[in-house]
Amino acid sequence: MRDGILEGSDPMTNPSLLILAGDGIGPEVMAEVKKIIGWYGDKRGINFDVSEDLVGGSAYDAHGTPLHDNTMAKAQEVDAVLLGAVGGPKYDDLDFSVKPERGLLRLRKEMDLYANLRPAQCFDALADFSSLKKDVVAGLDIMIVRELTSGIYFGEPRGIFEEGNERVGINTQRYTESEIERVARSAFELAKRRGNKVCSMEKANVMESGILWREVVQRVHDTEYPDVELSHMYADAGAMQLCRWPKQFDVIVTDNLFGDLLSDAAAMLTGSLGMLPSASLGAPMANGRPKALYEPVHGSAPDIAGQGKANPIACILSFAMALRYSFDMGDEADRLEKAVEQVLADGKRTADLLGEDGVQPVTTSEMGDAIVEALNASL
Ligand code: IPM
Ligand code: MG
Repeated sequence: MRDGILEGSDPMTNPSLLILAGDGIGPEVMAEVKKIIGWYGDKRGINFDVSEDLVGGSAYDAHGTPLHDNTMAKAQEVDAVLLGAVGGPKYDDLDFSVKPERGLLRLRKEMDLYANLRPAQCFDALADFSSLKKDVVAGLDIMIVRELTSGIYFGEPRGIFEEGNERVGINTQRYTESEIERVARSAFELAKRRGNKVCSMEKANVMESGILWREVVQRVHDTEYPDVELSHMYADAGAMQLCRWPKQFDVIVTDNLFGDLLSDAAAMLTGSLGMLPSASLGAPMANGRPKALYEPVHGSAPDIAGQGKANPIACILSFAMALRYSFDMGDEADRLEKAVEQVLADGKRTADLLGEDGVQPVTTSEMGDAIVEALNASL
């Protein structure tokens, strides 16, 4: 059975996945994703060629670098990369150039994954977990599109320099028109398939890069997407509106640093960081698929690593995004997302999702098994 494989792709080769489980809870949550991948092979005839490698602290331990050149080369070749999480206190004192996070940033930069899609969706079963009132978040479904390969994360000059008798720390916010254009297009394209609304956030009141951002997003809108509703907001006001009434938004497009902050805030509206997936997409490859890396929004949570407490749902939903955005298998992505919803509706909770009602948590692995069961029931 070859259903679901992208038209135009070579029917003789399976789509390829590189798994970089990383550090902390990364390997535990990824083990559950592997169960799901196995299920698609067994039950749907959708087989992936899966390879695995190291990233972050585990790569540093093995090779003295958070991302080996061979791993970088593999990431460039596969159809999609699945990443768990990187970092941990063990690596806090490492030189900046070899910190675990540098491995992730190198992948983003060299694969040119400029559009980072971070959905913030509130599952009905979890509306009580938000720190906001239930009616503010129930049914929430927004998408933050964060520019991921430029801005202050990568701009030059950067560094810590001597200036007179003290040091000065410098980072540079820099955006070219083409960098803004391409991420704006990603946001408008997504909006067309969702609520048809984009809100662009910058600080054009303070930053020249923000003035250019606003101008270019408006131009892309006027010339290419006049039918999508576009608004602009200063990012600080945007943060406030996200907490006040998040359902006013559909797609938010913003730069690298504001996107980092706003997506953490948006994530928490939904109750748990353990629930949220992300996709980082670049330009199409020769086979028509975008360069892509999928990862949970949460970090490596070293405090709970190895105890079966981690919630694998964010990583599993990241695989669902891979099905949708890399492999054009929207129906299978829907199936997996519904299985997750079903399991939550049935009352299964990992430790991060416990209220005060005395529910016993399930382990990471039990949560993965329950999702597999729900997938079986979907057939
Ligand atoms: C994220 C993280 C990363 C970032 C870190 C781990 C480099 O916070 O993906 O949001 O700042 O982009
Ligand atoms: Mg972040």
